Amino acid sequence: MKVKVSLGLNKRTWHPSPLVGQIVLVTTLNEDGTSNIAPKSWISMMTFEPPILAIGCDLQHRTARNILRDKEFVVNVPGAELAEIVWESSELPHPRPVEAVGLTPIPALKVKPPRIEECKAHLECALDRHLTYEDEVILLGQIVATSVDQEVHVAKDPYEYLRMFVYLEGNTYGVIEQAWQLGDEKH
Ligand SMILES: Cc1cc2nc3c(=O)[nH]c(=O)nc-3n(C[C@H](O)[C@H](O)[C@H](O)COP(=O)(O)O)c2cc1C
Repeated sequence: MKVKVSLGLNKRTWHPSPLVGQIVLVTTLNEDGTSNIAPKSWISMMTFEPPILAIGCDLQHRTARNILRDKEFVVNVPGAELAEIVWESSELPHPRPVEAVGLTPIPALKVKPPRIEECKAHLECALDRHLTYEDEVILLGQIVATSVDQEVHVAKDPYEYLRMFVYLEGNTYGVIEQAWQLGDEKH
């Protein structure tokens, strides 16, 4: 039998992390109507019908406060080429509109917070409900509109075009650069 060792119960100290979280940029609106951008990686699809996704967020974060107040947000999917901007944006002081990190806000289809032009896919969400755990909150959003760059439809491999990336630990991330299908010969 293989020897198994404990990683402990504190996610912050897990090395390596056995769970990954897709890195996204969440846009919300502040009370004064300006936009706020923040990276999040504790995000996952939860149900098909209705299409619900969940985001884990610190309750003090602008993102959580804005979503709990306005009940709307956009999940923007960046490619790995935006990794540095993603990390920089998490450190920028507020107010932190989309333009502050050098990105471009464009109107969303169904909700008030903007999409981010440089991102390649967008999930517009309406808050369905939330669950709080001490200082953190799980935000359950119903996806009300979706959009992707037109290029994904012409790309040979749309995943190679998207170059989505996932949070591992600290400032370490992984990139999805190629999609495999069952039966493909592995390299
Ligand atoms: C790659 C990356 C992923 C992150 N994921 C999360 C997350 O899932 N939940 C969270 O609360 N904070 C996360 N953070 C930290 C927030 O982005 C950071 O604290 C940010 O300043 C919060 O901004 P806000 O107050 O505008 O929401 C992440 C940071 C980085 C760099």
